[in-house]
Amino acid sequence: MPGEFRIGVLASGRGSNLQSILDACDDGRIDGRVVVVVSDVAEAYALERARRRGIEAVYHDPGRFRTKLEPEREAALAELLLDREVQLVCMAGFMRVIHEPLLNAFPGRIMNIHPSLLPAFPGLHVQQQALDYGVKIAGCTVHFANGGVDAGPIICQGAVEVAEDDTAETLAARILEVEHQLYPRAIQLFIDGRLRVEGRRVRVQPE
Ligand code: GRF
Repeated sequence: MPGEFRIGVLASGRGSNLQSILDACDDGRIDGRVVVVVSDVAEAYALERARRRGIEAVYHDPGRFRTKLEPEREAALAELLLDREVQLVCMAGFMRVIHEPLLNAFPGRIMNIHPSLLPAFPGLHVQQQALDYGVKIAGCTVHFANGGVDAGPIICQGAVEVAEDDTAETLAARILEVEHQLYPRAIQLFIDGRLRVEGRRVRVQPE
């Protein structure tokens, strides 16, 4: 039985992180349920994954901007999530930067996952950036959203060794496996009330 805690997921693409969250809700690693999945892309496979589970799947028109939502559209998205009594918003491959309308509606209640060890390589094409820079350790980060690009307080990170023959694709695939473990863990820590934000630091309280 999924828990009562209500999660909303924002996704723009294939939704493999959404899938990992859904699976973790099913097998009890997350004591909660995804009540709505919203995408700024009508044909995002993430919406299909939600529909297949009987979860409300909503295409939400982002308006005329490319990297953010139009403020009125963002306010409407916040309303939509509040209407569903969402308690935590998880950005999972949501390709837009969020601003006040969502941040004010869900203070300290929006998370994002990013496939680099922040603060290294925010933004796009990050595995290629990591390879080009020559790092030996790459990874992923779950953090609270704060209106910057991949910039809020860090909740947890997972590391992956870079192999000599890695391409951006092979590295991304190995990082993604770690993402799928990491995000459910971060969500459960939140549900358990174990995350205390002190400035930039997120302190994980003992069980
Ligand atoms: C993931 O690598 C995530 O970290 C990044 O975008 C990708 C989304 O993949 N923000 P998916 O849609 O969850 O499969």
